[in-house]
Amino acid sequence: MEELKQQLAKILTPQKKERRHVISLLREVQQKLGFISKEAMQMIADFLEIPGSTVYGIATFYNQFRFKPLGKHAVTVCMGTACHMAGGQLVLEAMARELEVEVGGISPDQEFSLDRVACIGCCALAPVVTINESVYPRMTPPRVEEVLVTVKPVVEEKQVASGQ
Ligand code: FES
Repeated sequence: MEELKQQLAKILTPQKKERRHVISLLREVQQKLGFISKEAMQMIADFLEIPGSTVYGIATFYNQFRFKPLGKHAVTVCMGTACHMAGGQLVLEAMARELEVEVGGISPDQEFSLDRVACIGCCALAPVVTINESVYPRMTPPRVEEVLVTVKPVVEEKQVASGQ
């Protein structure tokens, strides 16, 4: 809790101590931690002197916030209009199946997280997937497997080496 307090000290500043800043505070916390934990939500609530349930209600209303940590390989599938029209939903489903991770979730070994995002600004390449900083254009369900093959061997080698 003390560590979290220190991490959020630069975000929970006196200039932001008004209820109207709740969404920007949630955004900044997510940017800092990669997700918004229950403790962080409560800390925002205490800071703004509003009920924790209010912050929780606001955070869960918007699908831009995630409540579980990111995996070592953060996979996002763009679901902006261009990507959605080009088959983004099928790519998302294939990714969830292949990784055995639900959307918004993280694999038990913490290696992969899967999220949907709004337009990431390369609509001409739709549908688009990102894995950490890399962009994978013109994705299709069969390409999901191809792309993951380039990431998974590294993960599997590490698991073999550590005896998992
Ligand atoms: S809609 Fe996916 S990159 Fe713009």
